[in-house]
Amino acid sequence: MTKKLNVAMIGGGFMGKAHAMAYAAMPMFFWPAPAIPVRKVLVDVNKDLAADGAERYGFEDSGADWKAVIIRKDIDVIDIVTPNDSHAEIAIAALKAGKHVICEKPLARTGAEAKTMFEAAKRSGSIHMVAFNYRRTPGVALAKKFIEEGRIGAILNFRGTYLQDWSADPNGPLSWRFSKKIAGSGTVGDIGTHVVDFARYLVGEISSVNAIVRTHIGERPLQAGGLDKLGASDKSSNGPKGKVDVDDEMIALLKFQNGAVGSIEATRNAYGRNNFLTFETHGTKGSIAFNYERMDELKVMFADDPADARGFRTIYTGPAHPYGYGLWPISALGIGYGETKIIECYDFFSAIVSGKQPSPNFEDGWRVSAIADAILESGVTERWVSVAN
Ligand SMILES: NC(=O)c1ccc[n+]([C@@H]2O[C@H](COP(=O)([O-])OP(=O)(O)OC[C@H]3O[C@@H](n4cnc5c(N)ncnc54)[C@H](O)[C@@H]3O)[C@@H](O)[C@H]2O)c1
Repeated sequence: MTKKLNVAMIGGGFMGKAHAMAYAAMPMFFWPAPAIPVRKVLVDVNKDLAADGAERYGFEDSGADWKAVIIRKDIDVIDIVTPNDSHAEIAIAALKAGKHVICEKPLARTGAEAKTMFEAAKRSGSIHMVAFNYRRTPGVALAKKFIEEGRIGAILNFRGTYLQDWSADPNGPLSWRFSKKIAGSGTVGDIGTHVVDFARYLVGEISSVNAIVRTHIGERPLQAGGLDKLGASDKSSNGPKGKVDVDDEMIALLKFQNGAVGSIEATRNAYGRNNFLTFETHGTKGSIAFNYERMDELKVMFADDPADARGFRTIYTGPAHPYGYGLWPISALGIGYGETKIIECYDFFSAIVSGKQPSPNFEDGWRVSAIADAILESGVTERWVSVAN
């Protein structure tokens, strides 16, 4: 019989839906599964949403008080899918209670807060993971494999973007993502951190940054609590407005410890760009390019190809590529956001069963948050800022 691990999920919004789907689907894709996730309890401060979510997402039970749930003896895994201001408190308490913890990104609002979580994780002996799921896209994992195999030589340059447009309309509501107290930062922490995760994963540690950080839309109509509908909720320019105290545009130059250079851009205000999460990297022997909006594809150029065949070519990921044995049996059948969460769940449960920390774990989450801090500081000082470590 396959081992079973009981999960309590804290938060029942957008990511609650994604993680619940992954718990149900992971053994359907990856069999034998490392362990079967049992959807035990869904907790949300909104009691009705928790009860509704439990029924919808297949949890046995629901509740509104995470403190009562994390000490339950029948719970093995705590999954934190709440806004950023509650990650540290919930994670540290869960680690103290001896639970394995997966926490959504950014790990915390600041590097200092993330470090307290990493320290607690080190003390605990539990398995921990931060949910930078985009690196689990098979095309991105294939890029990592090619880089590790030396197929494009030593990396010289990394150019990454994360451009969306859901907050471009100034009448989009002032959700928690525009509050420093809850989110920590705006574009930098929310989506910039995904590109920073790509940069660290593919190239290595970032030593210093030089950034421009701006807030173009300084106020928005107030939203009375509730889920962040990412700009999809009713827009009204007549109601009272509140101040946006986080960034909405970021450009940063990067220096890596290994001598590579790079640049990243992130904004949620780029009309026409929906989930334009991209990177292009060139090395001494070739180049690799990826665009999440065409996530089944990886563009590669190998400089040692014959001169008459040189150029970017497209690989459609499938069974021959990372995670391919668990996904669909034909290349280019098409994967989506859900599959990245299913793979993340597979890697997390494999780590629990093997007892080996997965990547990215809370140390990675802390290092990414420290880089986000450096970008924000450089945005103010307009100087190169070294990354704290
Ligand atoms: N990895 C990704 O691709 C990705 C995508 C979106 C969001 N996120 C991250 O996931 C987290 C959640 O974002 P979301 O979009 O699901 O938000 P959301 O607004 O859709 O949902 C958050 C839910 O948490 C509940 N909640 C708030 N505080 C709580 C508490 N103390 N205890 C219990 N429930 C609480 C809210 O009532 C709400 O239902 C954030 O950290 C965000 O940055 C990651």
